[in-house]
Amino acid sequence: MVSPRLPATMPAAAPSLRLAPEIFALIGRTPLLPLRFGAEGLTIYAKAEFMNPSGSIKDRLALTILSDALDRGLLRSDSVVLECTSGNTGIALAMVGAALGLRVKILMSDTASIERRHLMGHFGAEVELFKPDRGYATGIELAERMAADDPRYFLPRQFANPLNALDHEQHTGPEIITQMAKKVDAFVSGYGTGGTLSGCSRALKRHNPSVQIVAMEPAEAAMLSGEMPCCHSIEGVAGGYVPPLLAGAKIDRVEKIASADALAMTRRLAREFGLLVGTSSGANVCAALRTARRLGPAARVVTILCDRAERYYSTKLFMEAPADAS
Ligand SMILES: Cc1ncc(COP(=O)(O)O)c(C=O)c1O
Repeated sequence: MVSPRLPATMPAAAPSLRLAPEIFALIGRTPLLPLRFGAEGLTIYAKAEFMNPSGSIKDRLALTILSDALDRGLLRSDSVVLECTSGNTGIALAMVGAALGLRVKILMSDTASIERRHLMGHFGAEVELFKPDRGYATGIELAERMAADDPRYFLPRQFANPLNALDHEQHTGPEIITQMAKKVDAFVSGYGTGGTLSGCSRALKRHNPSVQIVAMEPAEAAMLSGEMPCCHSIEGVAGGYVPPLLAGAKIDRVEKIASADALAMTRRLAREFGLLVGTSSGANVCAALRTARRLGPAARVVTILCDRAERYYSTKLFMEAPADAS
């Protein structure tokens, strides 16, 4: 499934934009790693999305949405890509935008880690911080207001854009099915925009209607479980908002993971498996292990390693003493 997903010819409206197929060829088709938890006799299969070139699963949607906009002539040489993001989408848009020669402006919660801001700046993107009084909704509304006042802004709208989930349905999900030799018993993922969870689950359910779809959410912000959002340390997921892309997703079960357990598992993934990944990856693996315990050692449970650890140096992940994870 090699998919540079770029238009064959550049639209006339974008004369100075560039094609950069070399970097785009590195997006997607990530490895799937078996993680053996020997003491428990369980194996979890983890899709290594941190291997994407800007370091997260969000490279997929940045390439897909901007390629589609180019195809449809929505981007001009003076366009500015404007998005509200907890970080990874901003880094991915900044990387894809840099490769295409597009300006990118990112609206980011002032709680997101400083490393993410530096990475976006390094790719040449502008970053504007906002106070997330109502979670992501605050930044989404700010982006809409700015775009209403200036036609140069192009909004990828990752929280509402069906291409976000469609890309996972057409690429990430089918990659998992192929890499697992068509045998998947459960798929476990957190949600930020819900694109990964809803898109992959559509592909997996179509292939095998009895596959269990498990949504991971922070125990402190278990919104799918009907609880109020609160402060948690699993950056990138559950931003105080149940995203519209999750509407209609066939979720069989929700696993609530405490931030402390997610942090401990993330450290364990580094020390026992050599995996430099972020806290949502640790949370996903906690939820996948619970699922494997429930379904038994023969179950083939797949989850996602969403991003790399380096963007969390200033967070709790690197500040507290390691502890055991279960
Ligand atoms: C670190 C991290 N993990 C998980 C997710 C969730 O992915 P999705 O937006 O597809 O639900 C995100 C999304 O921003 C993320 O940044």
